[in-house]
Amino acid sequence: MDEARPSHTALRVAMRRAAHQLHDARPLVFEDPFAVPILPPDARAELQRTPAASRKPFSAALRAFMVCRARFAEDVLSAGVREHGVRQALILGAGLDTFALRNPYRDVRVFEVDHPATQSWKRELLAASELPVPDTLSHVPVDFERQSLREQLSHAGFDFNQPTATTWLGVVPYLTREAFAGTARVLGGLPVGSSLVFDYSQPREVLPFTEQLMHDSLSARVAQAGEPFQLFFTPHSLADELPRYDLTVVEDLNSDALNARYLAHRTDGLHLRGKAGRLCHAEVT
Ligand SMILES: C[S@@+](CC[C@H](N)C(=O)[O-])C[C@H]1O[C@@H](n2cnc3c(N)ncnc32)[C@H](O)[C@@H]1O
Repeated sequence: MDEARPSHTALRVAMRRAAHQLHDARPLVFEDPFAVPILPPDARAELQRTPAASRKPFSAALRAFMVCRARFAEDVLSAGVREHGVRQALILGAGLDTFALRNPYRDVRVFEVDHPATQSWKRELLAASELPVPDTLSHVPVDFERQSLREQLSHAGFDFNQPTATTWLGVVPYLTREAFAGTARVLGGLPVGSSLVFDYSQPREVLPFTEQLMHDSLSARVAQAGEPFQLFFTPHSLADELPRYDLTVVEDLNSDALNARYLAHRTDGLHLRGKAGRLCHAEVT
């Protein structure tokens, strides 16, 4: 990422969650009353002006992936609170995620970690929109490529002995292998009962030809925004990699599994396509 600029992809993902609130049929997959208000005014206006754009198949498929992963991450978090005594939520590369504002658990502390430039932009947006920021939220600025996650979390009062639900959505493909490994090592050191949800992309060469073209188009767009894709896994390579950090795959979901879980019976065309993006739920072992 550019040192001084907030993440452009964070804005685009947040706009897709907001488009879901504005343009998709009820019931929504992911209810987020703050998804629209947190956006900068020009992004909000663009969404309201262009409802037809969100119905294009490529756009609907991307949005479907974004809302399913957000829903899945919060489902795992809730199960962790109910069943595994989770009292900390760690949101890595938070972008404009609003879970902290909607956190229904008074005794769950939320640590939002993000690149310093993105995090200060988000804090400006929160202040401008006058959304209520609860005292259960701590902001932790960290550049995964240059700073120690462990050190920054310690300064922020994170308790490394508490079971923690971590979400890391839309971030892994943008990292170097070293940054991924450094973060995974910290997460794998958390107590048993801790969970991790993240999405990852499969490498171009394992995709069918038409998806390779989609991959190329998306890669070019994010590279132009200064946030190139750098890191890919296959389900097999991921299942090999995670145990190095004391993490084990619980579920590794493809489009079919997510469609069946969250999007069956929809009539509005909100549907995941292709095999590039996958969603992994891992636990500390
Ligand atoms: C595509 S956005 C996803 C944001 C959010 N998780 C969501 O789903 O809406 C990518 C996020 O990763 C963060 N990110 C990318 N590289 C990073 C780095 N080296 N250190 C910290 N955060 C990084 C960006 O600041 C941004 O918030």
